[in-house]
Formats: sequence, C-alpha cells, structure tokens
Amino acid sequence: MADKPRNGKVTVVGAGFYGSTTALRLAEYDIFETVVLTDIVEGKPEGLALDMNQSRPIEGFETEVVGIGGGSYEGTEGSDVVVITAGIPRKPGMSRMDLIETNAKIVREVAEKVAAGSPDAVLIVVSNPLDEMTALAQLASGFPKQRVMGQAGMLDTARFTNFVAEETGVPVSSVRTLTLGSHGDTMVPVPSRCTVDGKPLTEVLAADRIEHLVDRTRNGGAEVVALLKTGSAYFAPSAAAARMARAVMEDSGTVMPVCAWVDGEYGISGVYLGVEAEIGRGGVRKVVEGDLSESELAGLRDAAEAVRAKQADIADL
Ligand code: NAI
Ligand code: 2OP
Repeated sequence: MADKPRNGKVTVVGAGFYGSTTALRLAEYDIFETVVLTDIVEGKPEGLALDMNQSRPIEGFETEVVGIGGGSYEGTEGSDVVVITAGIPRKPGMSRMDLIETNAKIVREVAEKVAAGSPDAVLIVVSNPLDEMTALAQLASGFPKQRVMGQAGMLDTARFTNFVAEETGVPVSSVRTLTLGSHGDTMVPVPSRCTVDGKPLTEVLAADRIEHLVDRTRNGGAEVVALLKTGSAYFAPSAAAARMARAVMEDSGTVMPVCAWVDGEYGISGVYLGVEAEIGRGGVRKVVEGDLSESELAGLRDAAEAVRAKQADIADL
C-alpha cells in the first residue's frame, strides 16, 4: 500500500551476504521510510540498493533502499537502528575467535563513525566473534549498554527449533526451544523450556537424541560453512537481525534471546551474554530472567565466565 505510514531509518553496515539479505528483509517489511546499506567497497551497496529497489513493484513494498559505498557515512546520519555486519566471515576449519583481530579493527572504526553521525541509534552487532564484538561496539560507541546488543540467540534458537521439528516430524510452529549463553562453544541449550506441541521436549525425544540436536545446534554455523566452502550462513542470520531491528523500531516489547548486558540477573554481572530480553525503542528494556534448572543455570554462569575472560581483552584490540 503506497499510502501506509513508514517511519524511520535503519542502516546496515557491510553489504556482504549478511548485510545485503538483512537490508532486503528490512525493506520488504515495508514499515521503514529508508534502509541504508553501506560498505567500504565502492559501487557494491549502490548496485545492490538499485537492484533491491527494482524489486519493489514486483514484491509490493515502498521502502527506499539507499546504497553508500567507499566507506562513507554521509547519508546514514540520524539512523534509528544500525546493524553492524562489517567484517570477514569464517572459512572451513576456522573458529569464530580466529576472526577477532581483523574484525575488532573493523567494528571499532564502524562503531565510532556510527556514534558520531547517529548518536541516538540502537546498535545491533552481528560481526564475529559475536559476544566480543558486541562489547567492543559498546566501548567504541560510548553508547549506554542497553542501546547495544548482539544477534546470536535468535539464530541458535531457530536452528535448534528447526532440528527438533525435522526430528519429530511436526511443523516448526509447533516447536519452542531456547538457547542462552554465548554464540559458540559455551552456548547453553535450555531443554527445560523446550516443547513440542506443548509437551516437554524431554518427554518427546530420548536424551541422546536431544544431545545430538544440541550438538548440531552448537555447531550449526560450522556445518553451513563446511558445505558452502566459502562464506558463512546468512538467510537465517539475517532473518534474526531483521526481526530484532523491527522490534526496536516498533517498540514492540517482544522478548527475544539476544546478546545483552547482564547486570545482576541470574546472579551474573558485568558481561554481554546471551539471555532473553525485552526489546523496545531504546534497545534492551530489561533482561528477562526465566526459570532454569540447576544444571542450566550452572551452564549459563560458566558461559558468563568464559565470555567475561574474552571480553576483558577487547579494549586492547
Ligand atoms: P561478507 O564477506 O559477505 O561481507 C562482509 C562485508 O563487510 C564485505 O562486503 C566487506 O567489504 C564489508 N566491510 C569490511 N570492512 C568494512 C568496513 N570497515 N566498513 C564497512 N564495510 C566493511 O561476510 P558476511 O557473510 O556478510 O558476514 C559478515 C559478518 O557476520 C562476519 O563476521 C560473520 O562471521 C558474521 N556472522 C555472524 C552471525 C551471527 O549469528 N552473529 C551469523 C553469520 C555471520
Ligand atoms: C553462524 O553461526 C558463522 O556465526 C555464524 O552461522
């Protein structure tokens, strides 16, 4: 509908696979006035934006996509939300931590420039290693911690849900799962909060099958990387980041698993960690503490310590 109200500006930094698919998903929601896509490469975001805009008459959306190349931030000023996807992805055999030095330089520079032009924006970080890059973006931007969050839990949870649905032969909409912790080895699956058709997962699947699906979820990114040979996943990741940006812009209050600043919840303080949080116009409205079993809580506390150790060094990167 050409006359429906569209508000706000969302900028996606990095016009690679993750950034470009995120920009298109955001534009196709048809609720924003403008989606800006930027990259250091000249011509790439401009070309992608042109292509996306030409899909508007077919897909029926009016949001304008603006491409800005050459590392310029002119035109991104006053963004309401900025999704940071700039950085290199993994190659087969690489861990997310192998990206840290390269991506830290990129994310630091991007966060500083975004903060200068869009001082009121909410930052959604996706560059890897995710938990560390989220902490670094907050540090470099100087933004309040609630206005900086990372995307990982939505993706890990979606992967877990998909695997459970395939294993049990039910629609994905009949499955609820949850993963907390970090995006990586210390991801914390929460079987006590997982259901299939409303029944506890533990009553539907044998413990060894649940463990197998948890392992597959924990290695979900690597499984895609190994198949693609070059580059990493972007369809499910972009769906997750776009939903987070939408929740911010609509001030929806939706509770989502995200990488958020934890300050006392679950007895954990002073670390960016994957938890459920209520998302609104100011970013994270509050971290939502759900019921966890004793072993799940212990796993979350272990994950917090592992991530804390890695985040401690980010100021030097
Ligand atoms: P890609 O290689 O397709 O795109 C990265 C883009 O960033 C390139 O176009 C590059 O030119 C651009 N770039 C590099 N430095 C820049 C700068 N200073 N300013 C602006 N743009 C810059 O990689 P892809 O697949 O888009 O992945 C991007 C990042 O997202 C990677 O770090 C990847 O590991 C991460 N990722 C995170 C996930 C998550 O769940 N948090 C899931 C999937 C990927
Ligand atoms: C993923 O999980 C590589 O973090 C990226 O797909």
